[in-house]
Amino acid sequence: MFLTPPHYDPLVFDAWRFREVMASFASGVVVLTAFGEDGGPRGLTVSAFCAASLEPPLALVCIDKTSNTLPAVEHTGGFTANILASGREQLARRMATKLSDKFERIAWERPATRVGGPILRDDTAAYAVCALRDTIEAGDHWVLIGLVTEGDHREGVAPMVFSRRIYT
Ligand SMILES: Cc1cc2nc3c(=O)[nH]c(=O)nc-3n(C[C@H](O)[C@H](O)[C@H](O)COP(=O)(O)O)c2cc1C
Repeated sequence: MFLTPPHYDPLVFDAWRFREVMASFASGVVVLTAFGEDGGPRGLTVSAFCAASLEPPLALVCIDKTSNTLPAVEHTGGFTANILASGREQLARRMATKLSDKFERIAWERPATRVGGPILRDDTAAYAVCALRDTIEAGDHWVLIGLVTEGDHREGVAPMVFSRRIYT
């Protein structure tokens, strides 16, 4: 069964209020990574990440259409969701910039399955390597759905939490 979208009023919900509502939803912080055509690491900070299915194991992430990392995800055929450990605010902020040298002095390794991006093992509480399975256009974002092919978590490492624009 699929829900039919109801008729909606063309009056658009106020953008500022929408942001405030969504900012109140506490989330983790992910650095999504992939490899560019030149083989170099690419990535960005995202909070719009969650599990989509258990069987098969699917995860989804929402990426702005203007993201410079999208071509790298397409080139790689997938991505790695690096779930940041608490205390990695500087890394989260750096990955949220448009700098071309974001990965300078950042330790990363290649995933065993070639569909993913760099794994930032030392900075994560967990990671999931995902093969791109589907893309859905959603307004100014793309929803990327990935099949998890590899992943792990670090026992005793607390994940970062982000809520109302504050890292805790
Ligand atoms: C805490 C936090 C969460 C973010 N979540 C998202 C997100 O879910 N999706 C997205 O497209 N951008 C998100 N951003 C913004 C991107 O990280 C930012 O636009 C980045 O510069 C994009 O880099 P790129 O163009 O090199 O890919 C977030 C930023 C921060 C600081």
